[in-house]
Amino acid sequence: MGQDEALRDFMVRISHYEQVYEPLCEEREKQLSFMRIFNAGERVLVHRHEGHIQSRVVYYLMNIHITPRSIYLTRHGESVYNLLGRIGGDAELSERGWEYSRALAQYIHEQAIPRLRVWTSQLKRTCQTSELIQAPQERWKALNEIDAGICEEMTYEEIQQKYPEEFALRDQDKFHYRYPKGESYEDLVARLEPVIMELERQENVLVVAHQAVIRCLLAYFLDKPQEELPYLKVPLHTILKLTPVAYGCELEEIKVPIPAVNTHREKPMVSF
Ligand code: F6P
Repeated sequence: MGQDEALRDFMVRISHYEQVYEPLCEEREKQLSFMRIFNAGERVLVHRHEGHIQSRVVYYLMNIHITPRSIYLTRHGESVYNLLGRIGGDAELSERGWEYSRALAQYIHEQAIPRLRVWTSQLKRTCQTSELIQAPQERWKALNEIDAGICEEMTYEEIQQKYPEEFALRDQDKFHYRYPKGESYEDLVARLEPVIMELERQENVLVVAHQAVIRCLLAYFLDKPQEELPYLKVPLHTILKLTPVAYGCELEEIKVPIPAVNTHREKPMVSF
């Protein structure tokens, strides 16, 4: 369909709506609780505000927009701890991680993304990964990797040996399991809420973060259920490009051809 015809068709659709829909009115519907959004967010009216859930809905709707844009998500380049199979910590990039940092900057510059902003965590590996990218950068503590508490800087094998019960508990319910003195995925989702809300407000953004953090962001934008979230595959040296479309997000996976270790641990098949 040509552009002119599409526009005409769209305007006819709106006039059909106008015939059957009735706007809520503060005078006529004085007693009702409602919200009206004018011109896709130019003005917002909240009438007879009622309670927590409603204020959350208002907060959310005030932050979303319909301007076309993309959100780029990537983990940091391979770190020295990734090579050793150690979780958490604040390690530097490996040689291949630095190679990814250069390749990422080249890819991003080639795309010439308008008004791009770069957000990283406050850990060395994400800052090093983004340092060559020429765009405004912000460091977010909220984007730091899941805190593994007493298991920080250990390998999965060491955790299994030293804390076998904890290790088994995590496999039983990875979303709710909280590391002693650390966090659960559920905690992480709560910690990321301000980041998600600010992402909703922004236009083009590149987020350089960590395996667990990116799983949470992906689950939000792709509407993945809670049980799947901690097992989403987010390989190193891969850029995930999310583009909002009507009723969801399109996902494009850009694999950067620089080898890296696999840090994904599958859910064990044993039944509890
Ligand atoms: O292994 C890399 C890493 O980012 C760790 O720092 C972190 O604890 C882990 O991945 C999170 O993945 P999972 O929840 O599968 O253990």
